[in-house]
Amino acid sequence: MKIFIDSADIEEINDVFSWGVGDGVTTNPSLIKKAVEKHVGIDLKSYIKKILRTSGDSPVSLEVTKTTAEEMISEAKKLYDLFEESGNVNIKVPVNPAFEDGDNTHFDGIKVLQELKKSNIPTNATLIFTPEQALLAAKAGADYISPFAGRIDDHLRKSAGLSFEKTDYFPRKGMSNGQGLLHDEGIVSGVHLVEECVDILEKHGYGSEVIAASLRNTRQVREAALVGAHIATIPYDVIKDMLKHPKTFEGMVSFTKDVVKEYEDLK
Ligand code: E4P
Repeated sequence: MKIFIDSADIEEINDVFSWGVGDGVTTNPSLIKKAVEKHVGIDLKSYIKKILRTSGDSPVSLEVTKTTAEEMISEAKKLYDLFEESGNVNIKVPVNPAFEDGDNTHFDGIKVLQELKKSNIPTNATLIFTPEQALLAAKAGADYISPFAGRIDDHLRKSAGLSFEKTDYFPRKGMSNGQGLLHDEGIVSGVHLVEECVDILEKHGYGSEVIAASLRNTRQVREAALVGAHIATIPYDVIKDMLKHPKTFEGMVSFTKDVVKEYEDLK
Protein backbone atom coordinates (compact mmCIF):
# COMPACT_ATOMS: atom_id res chain seq x y z
CA MET A 1 0.00 0.00 0.00
CA LYS A 2 1.32 3.42 -0.92
CA ILE A 3 1.47 6.12 1.75
CA PHE A 4 0.43 9.67 0.92
CA ILE A 5 0.61 12.51 3.39
CA ASP A 6 -2.65 14.38 3.85
CA SER A 7 -1.26 17.87 4.37
CA ALA A 8 -0.40 21.18 2.72
CA ASP A 9 2.27 21.95 5.31
CA ILE A 10 5.65 22.04 3.58
CA GLU A 11 7.60 21.14 6.74
CA GLU A 12 5.44 18.05 7.31
CA ILE A 13 5.67 17.03 3.65
CA ASN A 14 9.42 17.54 3.68
CA ASP A 15 9.80 15.34 6.78
CA VAL A 16 7.77 12.48 5.36
CA PHE A 17 9.70 12.50 2.06
CA SER A 18 13.02 12.76 3.92
CA TRP A 19 12.08 9.62 5.86
CA GLY A 20 11.64 7.85 2.51
CA VAL A 21 8.05 6.75 3.18
CA GLY A 22 6.11 9.30 1.14
CA ASP A 23 4.50 8.19 -2.11
CA GLY A 24 2.30 11.23 -2.66
CA VAL A 25 0.45 14.19 -1.16
CA THR A 26 -3.23 15.12 -0.89
CA THR A 27 -4.44 18.61 -0.09
CA ASN A 28 -7.88 20.15 0.21
CA PRO A 29 -9.09 23.74 0.70
CA SER A 30 -9.08 23.37 4.51
CA LEU A 31 -5.49 22.09 4.53
CA ILE A 32 -4.40 24.95 2.20
CA LYS A 33 -6.14 27.42 4.56
CA LYS A 34 -4.21 25.96 7.52
CA ALA A 35 -0.91 26.30 5.64
CA VAL A 36 -1.66 29.90 4.61
CA GLU A 37 -2.53 30.79 8.20
CA LYS A 38 0.68 29.16 9.49
CA HIS A 39 2.98 30.70 6.85
CA VAL A 40 1.70 34.28 6.98
CA GLY A 41 2.42 36.31 3.82
CA ILE A 42 3.47 33.38 1.63
CA ASP A 43 3.27 33.57 -2.14
CA LEU A 44 0.90 30.62 -2.57
CA LYS A 45 1.96 29.85 -6.15
CA SER A 46 5.64 29.48 -5.19
CA TYR A 47 4.66 27.63 -2.02
CA ILE A 48 2.66 25.04 -4.02
CA LYS A 49 5.56 24.70 -6.47
CA LYS A 50 7.78 23.95 -3.49
CA ILE A 51 5.37 21.22 -2.36
CA LEU A 52 5.44 19.73 -5.86
CA ARG A 53 9.27 19.80 -5.95
CA THR A 54 9.57 18.31 -2.46
CA SER A 55 7.36 15.43 -3.57
CA GLY A 56 9.68 14.59 -6.48
CA ASP A 57 7.81 12.45 -8.99
CA SER A 58 5.08 11.54 -6.52
CA PRO A 59 1.52 12.68 -7.19
CA VAL A 60 0.13 15.77 -5.44
CA SER A 61 -3.62 16.51 -5.42
CA LEU A 62 -4.90 20.08 -5.63
CA GLU A 63 -8.64 20.50 -5.21
CA VAL A 64 -11.01 22.67 -7.22
CA THR A 65 -13.16 25.03 -5.17
CA LYS A 66 -15.92 25.93 -7.63
CA THR A 67 -19.20 24.06 -7.70
CA THR A 68 -20.57 23.93 -11.24
CA ALA A 69 -19.17 21.82 -14.07
CA GLU A 70 -18.22 24.78 -16.23
CA GLU A 71 -16.44 26.62 -13.41
CA MET A 72 -14.75 23.48 -12.08
CA ILE A 73 -13.41 22.58 -15.53
CA SER A 74 -11.98 26.03 -16.03
CA GLU A 75 -10.47 26.10 -12.51
CA ALA A 76 -9.04 22.58 -12.98
CA LYS A 77 -7.43 23.59 -16.28
CA LYS A 78 -6.03 26.76 -14.71
CA LEU A 79 -4.52 24.80 -11.79
CA TYR A 80 -3.14 22.17 -14.13
CA ASP A 81 -1.60 24.77 -16.45
CA LEU A 82 -0.04 26.62 -13.51
CA PHE A 83 1.64 23.55 -12.06
CA GLU A 84 1.82 21.05 -14.93
CA GLU A 85 5.55 21.57 -15.51
CA SER A 86 6.30 19.74 -12.25
CA GLY A 87 4.79 16.64 -13.89
CA ASN A 88 3.13 15.36 -10.69
CA VAL A 89 -0.03 17.38 -10.12
CA ASN A 90 -3.52 15.90 -10.25
CA ILE A 91 -6.85 17.63 -9.75
CA LYS A 92 -9.20 16.72 -6.93
CA VAL A 93 -12.86 16.95 -7.90
CA PRO A 94 -15.81 16.54 -5.49
CA VAL A 95 -17.83 13.59 -6.80
CA ASN A 96 -21.05 15.55 -6.26
CA PRO A 97 -20.71 19.32 -5.81
CA ALA A 98 -24.42 19.92 -5.04
CA PHE A 99 -25.20 21.43 -1.63
CA GLU A 100 -28.52 19.75 -1.09
CA ASP A 101 -31.01 17.43 -2.69
CA GLY A 102 -32.94 19.13 -5.46
CA ASP A 103 -29.88 21.06 -6.58
CA ASN A 104 -29.46 20.34 -10.28
CA THR A 105 -25.66 20.08 -10.15
CA HIS A 106 -25.48 16.51 -8.78
CA PHE A 107 -23.72 15.13 -11.85
CA ASP A 108 -21.38 18.07 -12.38
CA GLY A 109 -18.46 16.31 -10.64
CA ILE A 110 -18.92 13.29 -12.93
CA LYS A 111 -19.03 15.57 -15.98
CA VAL A 112 -15.82 17.26 -14.85
CA LEU A 113 -14.01 13.95 -14.32
CA GLN A 114 -14.93 12.89 -17.86
CA GLU A 115 -13.93 16.20 -19.39
CA LEU A 116 -10.56 16.22 -17.60
CA LYS A 117 -9.95 12.63 -18.70
CA LYS A 118 -10.42 13.74 -22.31
CA SER A 119 -7.86 16.50 -21.72
CA ASN A 120 -5.40 14.00 -20.14
CA ILE A 121 -5.55 15.76 -16.78
CA PRO A 122 -5.24 13.22 -13.93
CA THR A 123 -7.98 13.37 -11.31
CA ASN A 124 -8.81 12.35 -7.76
CA ALA A 125 -12.56 11.99 -7.05
CA THR A 126 -13.10 13.23 -3.52
CA LEU A 127 -15.82 13.29 -0.85
CA ILE A 128 -16.75 9.68 -1.63
CA PHE A 129 -19.14 8.30 0.98
CA THR A 130 -20.74 5.40 -0.90
CA PRO A 131 -19.48 2.58 -3.13
CA GLU A 132 -22.01 3.78 -5.74
CA GLN A 133 -20.29 7.17 -5.90
CA ALA A 134 -16.97 5.34 -6.30
CA LEU A 135 -18.38 3.27 -9.17
CA LEU A 136 -19.64 6.34 -11.05
CA ALA A 137 -16.37 8.22 -10.47
CA ALA A 138 -14.35 5.25 -11.76
CA LYS A 139 -16.67 4.98 -14.76
CA ALA A 140 -16.06 8.69 -15.42
CA GLY A 141 -12.31 7.97 -15.58
CA ALA A 142 -11.01 9.19 -12.20
CA ASP A 143 -7.41 8.07 -11.60
CA TYR A 144 -7.91 8.10 -7.83
CA ILE A 145 -11.04 7.52 -5.76
CA SER A 146 -11.02 8.88 -2.19
CA PRO A 147 -13.52 7.33 0.24
CA PHE A 148 -13.55 9.32 3.51
CA ALA A 149 -13.31 6.64 6.19
CA GLY A 150 -13.08 8.81 9.31
CA ARG A 151 -15.98 11.03 8.36
CA ILE A 152 -18.24 7.99 7.87
CA ASP A 153 -17.31 6.82 11.37
CA ASP A 154 -18.11 10.32 12.69
CA HIS A 155 -21.44 10.23 10.88
CA LEU A 156 -22.37 6.81 12.30
CA ARG A 157 -21.48 7.83 15.86
CA LYS A 158 -23.16 11.23 15.61
CA SER A 159 -26.37 9.76 14.18
CA ALA A 160 -26.46 7.35 17.15
CA GLY A 161 -25.91 10.22 19.60
CA LEU A 162 -22.56 8.84 20.78
CA SER A 163 -19.86 11.16 22.06
CA PHE A 164 -16.32 10.59 20.77
CA GLU A 165 -12.96 12.18 20.07
CA LYS A 166 -11.86 12.67 16.47
CA THR A 167 -8.97 10.20 16.84
CA ASP A 168 -11.01 7.47 18.59
CA TYR A 169 -10.86 4.02 17.00
CA PHE A 170 -14.05 2.83 15.32
CA PRO A 171 -14.24 -0.95 14.76
CA ARG A 172 -13.89 -2.08 11.15
CA LYS A 173 -16.71 -4.62 11.63
CA GLY A 174 -19.01 -1.95 13.03
CA MET A 175 -20.45 -0.87 16.34
CA SER A 176 -23.79 -1.76 17.89
CA ASN A 177 -26.05 0.67 19.71
CA GLY A 178 -27.97 -2.14 21.42
CA GLN A 179 -30.51 -2.40 18.57
CA GLY A 180 -28.14 -3.78 15.97
CA LEU A 181 -25.15 -2.54 14.00
CA LEU A 182 -24.97 1.15 13.19
CA HIS A 183 -24.90 1.56 9.44
CA ASP A 184 -25.26 4.05 6.63
CA GLU A 185 -27.06 2.28 3.77
CA GLY A 186 -25.32 -0.96 4.79
CA ILE A 187 -21.90 0.62 5.36
CA VAL A 188 -20.91 -0.25 8.93
CA SER A 189 -17.59 1.61 9.18
CA GLY A 190 -15.22 3.82 7.24
CA VAL A 191 -12.91 0.89 6.58
CA HIS A 192 -15.91 -1.13 5.35
CA LEU A 193 -16.59 1.69 2.87
CA VAL A 194 -12.99 1.50 1.65
CA GLU A 195 -13.25 -2.30 1.36
CA GLU A 196 -16.41 -2.17 -0.74
CA CYS A 197 -14.96 0.52 -3.04
CA VAL A 198 -11.84 -1.63 -3.61
CA ASP A 199 -13.90 -4.80 -4.18
CA ILE A 200 -16.25 -3.24 -6.70
CA LEU A 201 -13.53 -1.51 -8.72
CA GLU A 202 -11.33 -4.61 -8.78
CA LYS A 203 -14.21 -6.98 -9.60
CA HIS A 204 -15.16 -4.88 -12.58
CA GLY A 205 -11.65 -4.13 -13.79
CA TYR A 206 -11.55 -0.37 -13.28
CA GLY A 207 -8.00 0.94 -13.15
CA SER A 208 -8.71 3.68 -10.59
CA GLU A 209 -6.70 3.46 -7.38
CA VAL A 210 -8.56 3.72 -4.08
CA ILE A 211 -7.12 6.20 -1.60
CA ALA A 212 -8.34 5.49 1.94
CA ALA A 213 -8.83 9.07 3.14
CA SER A 214 -9.88 10.86 6.30
CA LEU A 215 -7.86 8.41 8.42
CA ARG A 216 -7.65 9.30 12.08
CA ASN A 217 -5.49 6.68 13.80
CA THR A 218 -2.97 3.93 13.12
CA ARG A 219 -5.41 1.02 13.44
CA GLN A 220 -7.46 2.51 10.66
CA VAL A 221 -4.32 2.64 8.50
CA ARG A 222 -3.61 -1.04 9.27
CA GLU A 223 -7.18 -2.00 8.42
CA ALA A 224 -7.15 0.06 5.21
CA ALA A 225 -4.07 -1.96 4.20
CA LEU A 226 -5.77 -5.24 5.18
CA VAL A 227 -8.84 -4.55 3.04
CA GLY A 228 -6.62 -3.79 0.04
CA ALA A 229 -6.66 0.01 -0.23
CA HIS A 230 -4.10 0.86 -2.91
CA ILE A 231 -3.13 4.03 -1.07
CA ALA A 232 -3.74 5.55 2.37
CA THR A 233 -3.53 9.30 2.74
CA ILE A 234 -2.51 9.93 6.32
CA PRO A 235 -2.11 13.04 8.53
CA TYR A 236 1.45 13.77 9.69
CA ASP A 237 0.83 12.91 13.36
CA VAL A 238 -0.72 9.56 12.47
CA ILE A 239 2.28 8.69 10.24
CA LYS A 240 4.52 9.43 13.23
CA ASP A 241 2.32 7.34 15.54
CA MET A 242 2.76 4.36 13.21
CA LEU A 243 6.27 3.78 14.59
CA LYS A 244 5.54 4.24 18.27
CA HIS A 245 5.13 1.51 20.88
CA PRO A 246 5.95 1.66 24.61
CA LYS A 247 7.79 -1.67 24.43
CA THR A 248 9.97 -0.33 21.60
CA PHE A 249 10.91 2.65 23.81
CA GLU A 250 11.50 0.33 26.77
CA GLY A 251 13.64 -1.99 24.64
CA MET A 252 15.76 0.95 23.51
CA VAL A 253 16.41 2.00 27.11
CA SER A 254 17.61 -1.47 28.13
CA PHE A 255 19.61 -2.23 24.95
CA THR A 256 21.46 1.10 25.03
CA LYS A 257 22.18 0.61 28.76
CA ASP A 258 23.66 -2.85 28.14
CA VAL A 259 26.13 -1.88 25.43
CA VAL A 260 29.56 -3.20 26.47
CA LYS A 261 32.84 -1.51 25.56
CA GLU A 262 34.10 -4.68 23.83
CA TYR A 263 31.20 -4.45 21.40
CA GLU A 264 31.76 -0.77 20.72
CA ASP A 265 35.47 -1.35 20.18
CA LEU A 266 35.00 -4.12 17.58
CA LYS A 267 37.27 -3.46 14.59
C1 E4P B 1 -8.61 13.49 1.61
O1 E4P B 1 -8.09 13.59 0.52
C2 E4P B 1 -8.93 14.60 2.51
O2 E4P B 1 -7.99 15.62 2.31
C3 E4P B 1 -8.82 14.23 3.97
O3 E4P B 1 -8.37 12.91 4.14
C4 E4P B 1 -9.98 14.62 4.81
O4 E4P B 1 -9.71 14.25 6.14
P1 E4P B 1 -10.56 14.78 7.37
O5 E4P B 1 -11.88 14.12 7.35
O6 E4P B 1 -9.77 14.38 8.59
O7 E4P B 1 -10.66 16.27 7.21
